[in-house]
Amino acid sequence: MKINVLTLFPDMFTPLQVSMLGRALEDKKWDLNLVNFRDFTTDVHHHVDDTPYGGGAGMVLQIMPIKKALDSLEKKGKVIITAPQGKTFNQKMAKRWADEEQDLTFICGHYEGFDQRVYEMADEVVSIGDYVLTGGELPTMSMIDATVRLLPGVLGNSASAVEESFSHGLLEYPQYTRPAEFEGMKVPEVLMSGNHGKIAEWRLKEALRNTLLRRPDLLENREFTPEESKLLTEIKLELENKN
Ligand code: ADE
Repeated sequence: MKINVLTLFPDMFTPLQVSMLGRALEDKKWDLNLVNFRDFTTDVHHHVDDTPYGGGAGMVLQIMPIKKALDSLEKKGKVIITAPQGKTFNQKMAKRWADEEQDLTFICGHYEGFDQRVYEMADEVVSIGDYVLTGGELPTMSMIDATVRLLPGVLGNSASAVEESFSHGLLEYPQYTRPAEFEGMKVPEVLMSGNHGKIAEWRLKEALRNTLLRRPDLLENREFTPEESKLLTEIKLELENKN
């Protein structure tokens, strides 16, 4: 997958070039093309924004440099604008992009909004949540990370197993490693029992418990297996007995 990013701050993108994603970049599992759309301005001061028609505070990013930067790309693929008014990004979207798209192009704004005609050049407007950041760079990096880690050969086996569990629609179960006891805090017995059936059941139950307590919305439209229904009943009883 080739990912183009149109940004005024290409230097911000180092986090995608280290660790797992950096190695995958070196191994050509994906490709990152950072384009500074200020390079496509034609005036002496290299302006990328101007005051809004109709008046009002703030500045608006102009269409011309962004359109020229888009036209300079070999292949655009799906064009995505990151903005708080977009639909909210999620794991499903990352999976769809990873599975179905050859190329992606992100357009990052900074401080100010885009001329409406820029939105009209995009295939999707996507937000990372109901809060406002100073620019589209961090949202773009989050979306790229979530998408690229799903591409074949980017993660090792151990990490893809972690992925599995979120795509089953539940939050993670708790994990522990040595020591078995630290300052009185103990690892649950069952995990050291060697009984794989019991361990799997405990993990499913704790994933259900975490989801029920922190993200009950994820359980709303879920079809439960008989085992999940039984465990959920147990969890609810345990919670009632605690109160
Ligand atoms: N740009 C500024 N805030 C944003 C957000 N929450 N999501 C996507 N892009 C943004």
